Amino acid sequence: MPTVAVINGSLRQASLNGRLARALALIAKPGLDLLTARIGDLPLYNQDMETELPAAVVRFKQEIAAADAVLFVTPEHNRSIPAALKNAIDWGTRPYGTSVWLDKPGAVIGTSGGAVGTAVAQTHLRGVLTSLGVALMGRPEAYIVFKEGLLDDADNVTDARAHKALSTYVEALTRWITRLT
Ligand code: FNR
Repeated sequence: MPTVAVINGSLRQASLNGRLARALALIAKPGLDLLTARIGDLPLYNQDMETELPAAVVRFKQEIAAADAVLFVTPEHNRSIPAALKNAIDWGTRPYGTSVWLDKPGAVIGTSGGAVGTAVAQTHLRGVLTSLGVALMGRPEAYIVFKEGLLDDADNVTDARAHKALSTYVEALTRWITRLT
């Protein structure tokens, strides 16, 4: 079963994007194994640290390298991607020549309560990831406006239309990974 490292751009415990990631993991079973790649313990990027890479960075890079694909699940912060997510992406490219992103199959998705459902953040994220050589799934796009009743307490998708849309997304991601690996 292909493994997918899931990076949540939100660090908070009750993250809606964390809940969306769990919902996707439930839908994806047994075709894909979605595993969380933590970014909250990564220090702020500082080139001085490259001489002796922090243990969290080594762990994070190994998790990405070992996965068949990466799924970015992200909120929108001030019409862009959260700083913590950009920090993780930057660490993944360093030291120069050791990027974990090059040719890695990837996809983006995200949720917020806002009307555009993270569309602006995802567009920024796509620009960054494309420049790093991530083999990014172009479509379907998924801008999820989080509404009460979308997920139950165990993060199953309870809204039928949303379940269909997210299932279509997961099927497309599975095909994308299978094609590229
Ligand atoms: C937000 N939020 C937000 N929402 C949005 O749709 N567009 C935006 O530009 C912003 N900007 C923004 C900035 C900052 C600093 C915060 C903390 C929040 C609201 C945001 O989408 C909402 O808090 C989500 O619940 C965040 O996702 P998690 O943390 O629940 O996964």
